[in-house]
Amino acid sequence: MRGVAVLGSTGSIGRSTLAVLARQRDHFRVVALTAGRNASLLDAQRAEWSPVFAGLVDGGAASTLPGGPEVLIEAATHPSVDIVVNAVVGAAGLDATLAALRAGKRVALANKESLVMAGELVMEAVRLGGGELVPIDSEHSAVLQCLTGHGGSLDRLILTASGGPFREWPAERVAAATVEEALRHPTWSMGAKITVDSATLANKALEVIEAHFLYGLPYDRIDVVVHPQSIVHSMVEFVDGSVLAQLGFPTMELPILYALTHPQRLPDAGVPRFDPVGAGSLTFEPLRAAVFRTFGAGVAAGRAGGTAPTVFNAANEVAVAAFLERKLSFARISDTIEAVLDAHAPQPAVTLDAVRDADHWARARAHEELS
Ligand SMILES: NC(=O)c1ccc[n+]([C@@H]2O[C@H](COP(=O)([O-])OP(=O)(O)OC[C@H]3O[C@@H](n4cnc5c(N)ncnc54)[C@H](OP(=O)(O)O)[C@@H]3O)[C@@H](O)[C@H]2O)c1
Repeated sequence: MRGVAVLGSTGSIGRSTLAVLARQRDHFRVVALTAGRNASLLDAQRAEWSPVFAGLVDGGAASTLPGGPEVLIEAATHPSVDIVVNAVVGAAGLDATLAALRAGKRVALANKESLVMAGELVMEAVRLGGGELVPIDSEHSAVLQCLTGHGGSLDRLILTASGGPFREWPAERVAAATVEEALRHPTWSMGAKITVDSATLANKALEVIEAHFLYGLPYDRIDVVVHPQSIVHSMVEFVDGSVLAQLGFPTMELPILYALTHPQRLPDAGVPRFDPVGAGSLTFEPLRAAVFRTFGAGVAAGRAGGTAPTVFNAANEVAVAAFLERKLSFARISDTIEAVLDAHAPQPAVTLDAVRDADHWARARAHEELS
């Protein structure tokens, strides 16, 4: 019986995690739950799971639960917790990732932003704290599943991308895309921020940076290919040229389960079984980098290293929030990110202060761009 904390239990990944855990009650128990603002759903989850600890980060005066960002740390480091599922969205997830790893926990990481903004610190926390970092992102889970048992001979990663809702749109139409259009993802149902990130392809840049830190590969050995069916979740090429891929119908419940059980597997009747004929034709095409400039800006930030990925992440968060509030056009998301990155001189990102300073600077600079 392993104790699990679910941070961001009211979100898309958080709810999928509880759906997985509901089928695995013999193996896991829910020790801690945290939400941002959704008090009513958190109440319902508390009634179902009776966690030892529950916190509502942004509950306001009316809430009787512990509140403030500290509740994420409390849940992440609780002595009865073995596995922390970090399903918080955005930079707000960083401190809990670091705290859990330093406390020697397994972190099942959906919150890719924490690895992008502070990759060196997060990997150092893994080394020093004795914890484990296991990805939930379907692409990185695919890589881990392909690599498990094949260590040492990895040559190249090929991450797949659905291409998002605007994959085939002409550039002028993409530039004028509305919030409703950006939120209509063809293959995945996810929270609003990552859905917009998938439409701009910022999400794929975040994932390239995430893969760089998780698997220790230089950027020129991490490729991306568009695969509209989202059946092949990623591929791994070994030194002898052999390629392994992990396949399945799109569902986050399988990578969530694998992040809980790795390197073992558990039977799960809730995950849809694969049917190659039903999956139909699988196609692959290049990413249109000239149209989706946020992707190139993000990968360039990753290559620049230091605080550049921190700045990319922060500028993207501000731009996406403004787009969702209808204060910014789709085209200006990439303009804003590029302007902030152009104004930034990367510094080493080896202390939390350096990361926080870069994050704050980038948010302020991005807001200036918006005004
Ligand atoms: N959704 C997917 O399929 C998917 C796939 C791969 C990776 N991811 C990654 O997983 C993470 C979560 O994505 P999601 O789609 O599940 O997002 P989501 O549906 O928006 O859920 C976000 C969760 O975080 C909580 N939250 C928001 N702001 C917070 C803050 N400042 N402090 C503490 N908690 C806060 C929310 O609480 P309230 O709702 O209560 O306010 C909610 O529980 C993201 O990093 C995303 O990139 C998601």
